Amino acid sequence: MDELFRTLPADTDSREALAARGLRYEVVGTDPDERDAFSQAVNRGFYSAIAEAEELYEAREGFADRRTTAVWDATAVEPETPVATVDSWPTPLTVPGGGSLPAWAISAVTVAPTHRRRGIARALLEGELRTARALRLPIAALTVSEATIYGRFGFAPAASAVDLVIDTRRAVWTGPQAAGRVHFVQRDALRPLAPGIEQRARVAGDVDRWPGYWDRLLGLRASQAKKAADVRAVRYDDEHGEPQGFALYRVKEAGHDFSRHTIEVVDLVAATTDAYAGLWRYLLELDLVHEIAVGLRSVDEPLRWMVADPRAVRTRAQSDHLWTRILDVAVALEGRTWQTAGEIVLEVSDPLGFAAGRFRLAVDEAGRATVTTTDAPAEVALDAGALAAVHLGGTSPLTLAAAGRASGAPEALERLHALAVTPLAPRLSFWF
Ligand SMILES: CC(C)(COP(=O)(O)OP(=O)(O)OC[C@H]1O[C@@H](n2cnc3c(N)ncnc32)[C@H](O)[C@@H]1OP(=O)(O)O)[C@@H](O)C(=O)NCCC(=O)NCCS
Repeated sequence: MDELFRTLPADTDSREALAARGLRYEVVGTDPDERDAFSQAVNRGFYSAIAEAEELYEAREGFADRRTTAVWDATAVEPETPVATVDSWPTPLTVPGGGSLPAWAISAVTVAPTHRRRGIARALLEGELRTARALRLPIAALTVSEATIYGRFGFAPAASAVDLVIDTRRAVWTGPQAAGRVHFVQRDALRPLAPGIEQRARVAGDVDRWPGYWDRLLGLRASQAKKAADVRAVRYDDEHGEPQGFALYRVKEAGHDFSRHTIEVVDLVAATTDAYAGLWRYLLELDLVHEIAVGLRSVDEPLRWMVADPRAVRTRAQSDHLWTRILDVAVALEGRTWQTAGEIVLEVSDPLGFAAGRFRLAVDEAGRATVTTTDAPAEVALDAGALAAVHLGGTSPLTLAAAGRASGAPEALERLHALAVTPLAPRLSFWF
């Protein structure tokens, strides 16, 4: 896998489909100019600013860890700039029970406005799924700009996230007294520690953040220095002095009223409940602040239970944050721990074919699954997206049945619910 994921040629079916429309679909080479043109095409596709030389230079190192695929139109006035982009890489995806599955992360999906709605994204996405399958990866994962695009390719929301706004005057701390201490630290001093803390903080539904991501988050890239200048870092050390969490935040002024600053939490990562309490209490009790905004938190966020007035913690938005797509049913289902012992026969439909079939899921007392194909009568029928939604434990098959995305006798749906749904909601802690 190590090298293969970058060197495997571009998917043949997609290459042919696009060639028939006069377009060239290939994996981007190592030429820096070609890589820079790809970066500019991604920025253009997401309506971001034209990248400056420094940013392009910094972006180049990221290509080493990605498979970068593009579509070119030789008849365009600027034929060297791709008209469509996608990048992808293998990554562990955490699953219920504490383990992980090898997943195909997909990002940077763009099609130039001049070339939209003529099937280019479909060719890119189907090419990505076939490539992932060729690499024997059981699941693909992405975060989405619009929730209307990826369902047709068998993806479904598998882990939701909430954006919270907290009224600090009402959010009087009633949670536990943390035993450790909060320290101010320089952002660069967090760089060696943060990935390890984040690794220990994960629940099901998260993927690895890459080195360049950490550098950007911590504002350590030269091109980011100005933008990150107002980001403060605090670290939580437990009573033994071990770092167990950190928060990155910026404080914003609110006109002339100095008592009404707002805080934007850039990230808050806690590997222990103690660190979680210590960091949140620190933020809630900052002077001159009346509101804290924080994104991508769990739908089960304990914070509401740690303040005098739970209505002080308002959900501003809830989103379908992580989307997954099951490519190998047996490997994907066997890769997680299930909640109870039991058996069920699932009929999975999948117009693209990857996940289609009838499968017996048999779970032993330890929550370990064995999945076999079977001719036995199906007990629950569901589409590949519905299976993806159930797989990480965050969506009940009963909900999907009520929505017409799954069917079966109530007893069978309840049995699948008992097997699959986890006490803790899955969560993806960042965008990729
Ligand atoms: C979203 C985007 C990649 C689609 O590219 P495209 O080449 O126009 O898409 P296609 O022509 O291949 O469309 C494939 C299917 O998706 C549908 N579709 C495409 N974009 C859609 C959108 N934004 N909303 C709803 N449906 C969409 C098409 O109608 C088509 O449906 P069908 O095949 O079932 O008839 C492109 O519009 C884009 O770059 N948008 C801005 C950047 C972005 O949001 N990227 C996605 C990041 S997650």
